Amino acid sequence: MNDERCMIFLFGATGDLARKKLIPALESLFEKGFLKESPVICIGRRKISKEEYVQLVKGNGEFLNHLYYVSAELKGKQEAELKVLIEELDRKYKCKGNKIFYLALASDLFKQTIEMIKELKLLEGEGKKRVAFEKPFGFDKRSAEELNEIVSAVFREEQIYRIDHYLGKELVENIAIFRFGNSLFEDIWNKKYVENVQIVLSETVGVETRAEYYEKTGTVRDMIQNHILQILSLVAMEAPREFTADLVRDEKVKVLSVLEKGECVVGQYSEGGYEGKVIPGYCAEQGVAKDSLTETFVALKVFVKNSRWEGVPFYLKTGKRLDKKYSEVNIVLKDVASRLFLQEKEKDRKNVISICIFPDEGIVLRFNAKVPDSRKELEPVCMEFSHKAAFGPNSSEAYETVLKEILKGNQTLFTRFDEIQESWRCVDEILAKIDFKKELKIYPAFSSGPKEADELLRKEGRVWVQTKK
Ligand code: BG6
Repeated sequence: MNDERCMIFLFGATGDLARKKLIPALESLFEKGFLKESPVICIGRRKISKEEYVQLVKGNGEFLNHLYYVSAELKGKQEAELKVLIEELDRKYKCKGNKIFYLALASDLFKQTIEMIKELKLLEGEGKKRVAFEKPFGFDKRSAEELNEIVSAVFREEQIYRIDHYLGKELVENIAIFRFGNSLFEDIWNKKYVENVQIVLSETVGVETRAEYYEKTGTVRDMIQNHILQILSLVAMEAPREFTADLVRDEKVKVLSVLEKGECVVGQYSEGGYEGKVIPGYCAEQGVAKDSLTETFVALKVFVKNSRWEGVPFYLKTGKRLDKKYSEVNIVLKDVASRLFLQEKEKDRKNVISICIFPDEGIVLRFNAKVPDSRKELEPVCMEFSHKAAFGPNSSEAYETVLKEILKGNQTLFTRFDEIQESWRCVDEILAKIDFKKELKIYPAFSSGPKEADELLRKEGRVWVQTKK
């Protein structure tokens, strides 16, 4: 569809995601020529004019001429007006009935939005129709299955794009290439050589204006169920027979279906300080219950129960209001069999392969070298592939990439329903075992998180690795 025009419907247009990510991504695709002149119909809750909407999204340039804003109360008169607008735009832009519906909404609004799309008869007639759902898809396994039934009664699987924007990040897309496109790594990518795997998505932002969503969701549903488990499945999967959307997803789902949860630490940020300013705790944020038990941090251990990974712990960690924004995958290799150079003080100098997703995209290999003028003293050194240095500084924003793939009709970067089911199975098990009243650990904003998360590794003789400090 990317060389044809299409009508884009953006539901949730006044929300955080649409304002900060989706509109800028569409604007950038338009400027780069990936999005042909196409009408973008923004549908939001606020009763505002197009001019006010443009101000809200801080849009500019020629792209704005193709932006239309409609208030979400699509009943009676407005519905009729919208129908007229759609017909008019279809004629003006010659979209030939091609339509993309992007639901940048909480998943409890998906059902009524699909009904609205049906009632407005937007799926009828010629042209390609595609629908994108923002994550998380559902609230648990059961609700996701119910939701999927509703969705699949209206759309075929090949029309459905379940978004996980991490799959559109350059270095996440690189994982499969890095593993299967090089003879260097694949032979050591297993329990014989890998001691543990760490996936960390650390954030400095708090809940911001998203309390309504976050209070219902929490970090496990917001980050583990999707971004972290998706990265894990790419790191752990077997090579697909061919690099096609379905064969890649077949391999990812096999990993997710054998995940077994281990210990888990949950936390919530309290008041802290940053650059001399007092930063409020989670419970003092606007829209959050004063006695909220919602977790803003989680660290946990899981195992991939198959022959490649038997016994190798995968440590996962993510949280809000931590001291640094960074996303890394660290593959920690086992000690060399020979103890020749590994004296007591050098115990932690393990070789590490780091996939750095943010901020400095790249891959770093950490190994030991001899300290000059010593005979056998070791010092860890790094060899680095910097994405920016090799390919230039402007790798696309993740949302730009996923939108481009929807326009192209390529589903590789989107989660299939069986992956969602397996991730929810795992997350439901994690959540069912936590007694939030007793277990929620409080950590100050802008710290490294609860000390229990460090203890999780320390008691097993390990530490969290952070390559980009
Ligand atoms: C979103 C979560 O999916 O990802 C947010 O809902 C989180 O809570 C965000 O802040 C992080 O994405 P990124 O691309 O900024 O690392």
